[in-house]
Amino acid sequence: MRHILTALLASAALAGVAQADPLRDSALEIFKPLPSTIPAVKDNPVTPEKIELGKALFFDPRISASGVFSCYSCHNLTTGGDDNMETSVGHGWQKGPRNSPTVLNAVLNEAQFWDGRAEDLKAQAKGPVQAGVEMANTPAVVEATLNSMPAYVNLFQVAFPGEENAANFDNMAKAIEAFEATLVTPAPFDAWLNGDDAALSDDAKAGLQLFVDKGCSSCHSGVNVGGHGYYPFGLIEKPGSEILPPGDKGRFAVTETADDEYVFRAAPLRNIALTAPYFHSGKVWDLAVAVEIMAESQLGEALKPEETAQIVAFLDSLTGTVPVITLPNLPPETATTPRPTA
Ligand code: HEM
Ligand code: HEM
Repeated sequence: MRHILTALLASAALAGVAQADPLRDSALEIFKPLPSTIPAVKDNPVTPEKIELGKALFFDPRISASGVFSCYSCHNLTTGGDDNMETSVGHGWQKGPRNSPTVLNAVLNEAQFWDGRAEDLKAQAKGPVQAGVEMANTPAVVEATLNSMPAYVNLFQVAFPGEENAANFDNMAKAIEAFEATLVTPAPFDAWLNGDDAALSDDAKAGLQLFVDKGCSSCHSGVNVGGHGYYPFGLIEKPGSEILPPGDKGRFAVTETADDEYVFRAAPLRNIALTAPYFHSGKVWDLAVAVEIMAESQLGEALKPEETAQIVAFLDSLTGTVPVITLPNLPPETATTPRPTA
């Protein structure tokens, strides 16, 4: 009997059937693999027509006042969905106050921005278009721009059938949200959670174990390994003012509650290896250093170099595959299209 059992187990292993794995079982209680279809979003059915329109808008610099900045300027989909700068540069070459987070998998965050001040992506998308340091435009000018191009009006009518004046600011935001919902990036960690034993290296598995045992996963959990929940940056020990500039009080600006000073959303960690520099201040360029700072500031723990390296190996396994995106052909301007302002 024992022989038969051994033979059965061996053939199961040969056939690649996932073996019972306590690490995977505990990981599945904390994290979730990415969905295999485009996630649904609230009050905005995602259709192919909306995705197509949203893609055009995402790449179109003409929704900024200067005609220079598109969403893509600060969320470059070929470099991790961000801009790889300390803090973003926007309208009039101004340096903004915060680092640009990735748009990849952002649809799965519980709230948007470092301080969670936007409930979802359609609320979020209206922000940068109007922000003085980003695109510095107004809803009225954006609507005039879109309505001046018959090809855009047509795309809006197809994406929002039956609506009068479909080319409006709200629908712009909904279409962008639909496009962003497609930006999910399955990674080796998902393959491993789904049962592929070989998808993670031994170092990555050891790093995952440390990530859980040390307590990182008490804040960075769920499908985006973060992206929900708010915590003081410096829960145990405040980082220096170089990394945590005193002027940015995080969630305090949203809730005006003293307890929320220097509180930020636990950052989502998918594709983190691609999105240096780190933290809302963008002051740290090395992922290993960011991990050490987290261990000290959030957990009061000094990691050994090999522990840091293993946690980084785990974080590397969160680097996913960006969906193939063909560049849109943007509608041509007409005589009535508002011209760029300085
Ligand atoms: C944050 C999308 C334009 C810089 C975000 C987030 C999303 C997003 C989804 C939140 C991600 C998260 O919280 O994890 C867009 C879209 C844009 C756009 C759809 C076009 C309509 C821009 C531009 C810039 C920029 C042009 C740079 C000039 C930033 C920065 C943040 C951010 C700095 C973080 C701001 C904060 O937390 O206060 N963007 N973005 N974005 N984006 Fe954009
Ligand atoms: C940010 C990793 C523990 C809350 C980050 C970032 C990394 C990271 C790499 C930077 C994200 C980015 O720049 O996009 C880790 C690791 C941990 C750990 C490896 C364990 C050693 C924790 C814990 C908490 C927490 C326990 C909550 C008490 C946060 C918050 C941010 C963040 C609030 C955003 C900080 C900011 O405003 O810039 N984490 N983390 N982390 N983490 Fe952790």
